[in-house]
Amino acid sequence: MRILVTGAAGFIGSAYVRHVLREHPDDEVLGLDLLTYAGTMANLAEERDNPRFRFVHGDIADADLIARLAPDIDAIANFAAETHVDRSLLDPEAFARANVIGVMTLLDAARRHGLRMLQVSTDEVYGHVPEGEAAREDARLSPRSPYSAAKAGGELMCLAYGTSYGTDVVITRGANTIGPRQYPEKLVPLFVTNALLDLPLPVYGDGRQVRNWMHVDEHAEAIDLVLRRGRPGQAYNVGADNERENLDVAHAILERIGKPRSLIHHVEDRPGHDRRYGLDTALIRDELGWRPRRDWRQTLHDTVDWYVANLEWWRAIREHDHRFQEYYERQYGERLAGVGRG
Ligand code: TYD
Repeated sequence: MRILVTGAAGFIGSAYVRHVLREHPDDEVLGLDLLTYAGTMANLAEERDNPRFRFVHGDIADADLIARLAPDIDAIANFAAETHVDRSLLDPEAFARANVIGVMTLLDAARRHGLRMLQVSTDEVYGHVPEGEAAREDARLSPRSPYSAAKAGGELMCLAYGTSYGTDVVITRGANTIGPRQYPEKLVPLFVTNALLDLPLPVYGDGRQVRNWMHVDEHAEAIDLVLRRGRPGQAYNVGADNERENLDVAHAILERIGKPRSLIHHVEDRPGHDRRYGLDTALIRDELGWRPRRDWRQTLHDTVDWYVANLEWWRAIREHDHRFQEYYERQYGERLAGVGRG
């Protein structure tokens, strides 16, 4: 199979490229990435020399480019997206463009060339899920941030292409994902790198919000199963059932690195902050036999230890990329004013 992997230089996309090249010796991967702030060729350093991998720099919303690539592929796995909730609150339009218009451009190519298209989506499309409940795939979509609304829009467009044109689409709705190479704006890599720099850890509100965590390699494996064996038109929840409150995550990070809890600072909350995500993952387990292998501790330790061992990877972003510094100041400047933020 020849797979177009969009967002190939990003966190989950690059893990997926690695997974396919390792697990499917006859497959070829065409990687596409716009290399915005979050994607970097450093994430594909080892794959670049693989004869079964080719990389193209470009935008999923560039219809001419996608039309040129489409005749040489059998399937599309779309990881390309704007992904960060806090950024979506600052700039919603970029999210509609990448997560809706970009998806539609890929769908047009899938439709025209008879390709299977997998859309990587998120558990955030369900919105807040009350304690004790777990969203099944047929639950109502109730996104509450510009990010999750755009992701839900992209998904609905996939399903509409399936219904209207018979396009072969499948969807994954993944839980919070951690592991090597995640851009240090998300909770875990931000807190790990702040702790390593002795900077405060900005916990939004009371820190009792609940997220469900999984390792990126397990997420990549689940996506691959759905791409190959998922039922057309079906969405599959993907999550490892590791529910944790944000404060517990912060404590576990500090403990692993050996830094004091006094680095934790409660700051002004994210507007519209979803209290909890909760996923029912019976479908992918029962139908496709997917099982995560790592427990919560292994997942967190593997992540923390990678950042400890790969200082140059994240220092290039935190210390040498003005785009990170500008974002950090905009997001945390006032929130951490007076706390000694380095
Ligand atoms: P995040 O990693 O942004 O993922 P998402 O919002 O998509 O689940 O955030 C995870 C949780 O951590 C979420 O409840 C918000 C919280 N959080 C903080 O408390 N402080 C921070 O600086 C960040 C980035 C997130």
